[in-house]
Amino acid sequence: MALDNAFYDDTLASVYDQMYPLDGDTVQAIDFIGELAPPGGRILELGVGTGRIAVPLAELGYDVHGIEGSTAMLTKLKERDPDGKVTTHLGDFTETTTGEQFDVVTLVLNTFYVAITKEQQLSCLRNARGQLRGGGKLIIEAFDPAPYHDMKKPEVSVRHLSERAIMLDTLTVDRSKQLMVATHTILSAGSPETKRHVIRYAFPAEIDLLAQLAGLRLAGRWAGWTKLPYTSASLRHVSVYEPDQDV
Ligand SMILES: C[S@@+](CC[C@H](N)C(=O)[O-])C[C@H]1O[C@@H](n2cnc3c(N)ncnc32)[C@H](O)[C@@H]1O
Repeated sequence: MALDNAFYDDTLASVYDQMYPLDGDTVQAIDFIGELAPPGGRILELGVGTGRIAVPLAELGYDVHGIEGSTAMLTKLKERDPDGKVTTHLGDFTETTTGEQFDVVTLVLNTFYVAITKEQQLSCLRNARGQLRGGGKLIIEAFDPAPYHDMKKPEVSVRHLSERAIMLDTLTVDRSKQLMVATHTILSAGSPETKRHVIRYAFPAEIDLLAQLAGLRLAGRWAGWTKLPYTSASLRHVSVYEPDQDV
């Protein structure tokens, strides 16, 4: 079972769409994911959140499902999707299954890393594999850990949320465990609120190996949604896996 703090609570859910507004990158993600499914095809998002990507895909006619552990995030999704175009399943995506099969399964925006042990990450990949139909694709978008793995001291940054609110982010890394601790402090009219999140980052080669153990093989890797080549300078990767027929 994932740590409770992996699920976003009311506070984070209330500012999530300000942290990740519908920008050009999100539109490119929607295009990329949609291209891998046939028209009207079936797409499952693990950690679907507020439906930032799932709802626009459903509006394009795909049959979209999402597994999510946070009721607060699902409440926000319902606000964005009052007609219920996205089918949601409350649960832990390392073990909860829809019992159905999909053309595309996605883990976007570093969501793979919220499983904070390699065993949980492997369970997540096995669960994704079990919900892929033959010829289906698993998409993982994740940051490249290289610059963070070398961090010697906490990194602090400020995020604009609205005219009246900012978020102070601090990042610390324990490279011996590949763990990153992020604290988000929201400064607005009321008292500051701090939320702490732990994630386990993994280098692409480790994700490929875990995927292989889960019966998946790498079909393509790019530096982002526009399919620029992935190089040693890339800050993130978008990786596509497919069922390994030999397993
Ligand atoms: C970084 S957010 C991404 C949300 C959405 N995919 C997006 O791109 O906007 C990660 C989401 O995963 C959810 N989550 C974290 N661990 C989970 C788990 N083990 N099972 C299901 N959901 C989980 C969190 O509650 C949060 O909504």
